[in-house]
Order: sequence, then C-alpha cells, then structure tokens
Amino acid sequence: MDRPYIICHMAMSLDGKVTGDFLEKSEYGKFIEDYYRIHREYGADGFLCGRVTMEGSFPQPSVTTQEYDGPPIAREDYIAEKAAFYAVAIDPKGKLWWSNRAISDPDEGYDGAHIIEVLTESVPDAFLAHLRDKEVSYLFAGKTELNLPLAVQKLKDLFGIEKLLLEGGGIVNGSFLQEDLIDEISLVVIPAAECNENAIPLFKTGKYGAKTAPAKPFHLKEAKRLNDDGLWLIYSKN
Ligand SMILES: NC(=O)c1ccc[n+]([C@@H]2O[C@H](COP(=O)([O-])OP(=O)(O)OC[C@H]3O[C@@H](n4cnc5c(N)ncnc54)[C@H](OP(=O)(O)O)[C@@H]3O)[C@@H](O)[C@H]2O)c1
Repeated sequence: MDRPYIICHMAMSLDGKVTGDFLEKSEYGKFIEDYYRIHREYGADGFLCGRVTMEGSFPQPSVTTQEYDGPPIAREDYIAEKAAFYAVAIDPKGKLWWSNRAISDPDEGYDGAHIIEVLTESVPDAFLAHLRDKEVSYLFAGKTELNLPLAVQKLKDLFGIEKLLLEGGGIVNGSFLQEDLIDEISLVVIPAAECNENAIPLFKTGKYGAKTAPAKPFHLKEAKRLNDDGLWLIYSKN
C-alpha cells in the first residue's frame, strides 16, 4: 500500500454523534478512558485530526500572528524531525499556531507526539516561518484545495507512517470516507442517546465533498462488551 493503514478511532453515542453533553458527564468518563486505552493499544505511528479538533484539544499560544518580511519561502515539505509518534493536523489554511514542536498532554498516548501540519500552498509565508521557528514539520498537499490521497502518501513516504489513527472530528472523518481512505473503523459506543441538533455525526458530508455519497461497506471484525454497557466495535474494509 502506498499510504498508511488508516483506522478511524472514535467515541460516539448510540445515535452516532461524536459531540454532545453526554461526553461531559462523569458517569461516561470510563468510556473515554477506554477510548484512550485502545488508542494506546493500537500501537500506531501517529494520529490525525482536523483543524477544529486540534484547536479544541491542544491549547493554542496566546499570540497567533507573526510579522514576516524575509524572502518568499518555497512551498517545499519540511521535515523537522523523524519521530516515533506523530500528531498530524489537517490545517489547509494555516490557522493552527504551536508553542512547541511536540504535543504536551497528560495522556501518554498523545504526549510528545511530533507535530506535522498538512497544508495547501495558499498559506501565508508568515505561517511557514512560524512553523520553522518552532520546528514543527509540514507538508503540502494541493494548491488551494486539499488533496488527501497525496497527503497520506506523503505521511508514509516522508515520515514512515505505516499505521495511522484518524481521530475526528466529523468533517475530517467524512472527507476521508468519501476518498475511500479508511481501512478500519474502531468505535467506542457510549450507552447514551441525546436529542441535540447541533451534535456532530461520526461522518459529516458536504463541506469537502459531495452532499451525499454511496454507502461504503465494512465487515464486522470484532465486537467486545466494555464494562457497564459500553461496546467496542471494529469494522474493516476487507
Ligand atoms: N467523540 C470523539 O471521539 C471525538 C474525536 C475527535 C473530535 N471530536 C469532536 O469533534 C468536534 C470537531 O469536529 P468538526 O467536524 O467540527 O471539525 P474537524 O473535523 O475536527 O475539523 C474540520 C476542519 O479541518 C479542516 N479540514 C478537514 N478536512 C478537510 C478537507 N478534506 N479539506 C480541507 N480542509 C479540511 C478544515 O479546516 P478550516 O476550517 O481551517 O478550513 C475544517 O473546517 C470537536 O467538538 C471535537 O471535540 C470528537
């Protein structure tokens, strides 16, 4: 395969939502712990999230602008580090600013992951200068629109990522699904259902693809009961 094996690993409600008040309730905290445990046990080479999820999960520095009056910066991929584990951010317009080259997180499954920004060539030079200052790696996939197949191919070729966890949110998951880039789906099903018109589904369509797309078939590989009514479902493409 000319790209990593991609596992979409998510925690969702019974009605297939990945956001909502239920995620804040202490009685469901144990399922979030299961989610993090499974993330660690996958032994992947990295995880990947959309810009919104990255922004919400990892704090942004207080200053998110930078003056740049140097020469134009070539749109060439920048490998700051070859690491054991990577945090890949889908950030086509260059909106995520970082304090460090690596993720800082209380969970050892995320802490220390070296950051790779996936960009389009339309990002400002000042943003590239910021990433170089912080020694955050980046790669280009597309001029103004993101080319996801190219992005994942580069993750393997440039960084040696063989197994990648795709960890939301709904927009990024939906665009990977539409591009046929998901090999396995790992779902921690939380035993809660909630009416919430603003909640985000596991796969969201429309923003970066067709509004509707043909259903993709998956096969049940494993179904494991988690303590206290939770479920872990694993589906694979083949
Ligand atoms: N329950 C769980 O397991 C779980 C896991 C992860 C996240 N979440 C939740 O999901 C929510 C965020 O989900 P979301 O769907 O709103 O956002 P998201 O998927 O995290 O990020 C979406 C953004 O990423 C960029 N992007 C993603 N795919 C793209 C593509 N194909 N082409 C171009 N740009 C692309 C765009 O950035 P720009 O807007 O900058 O163009 C887009 O707006 C958060 O509340 C988070 O807590 C839940």
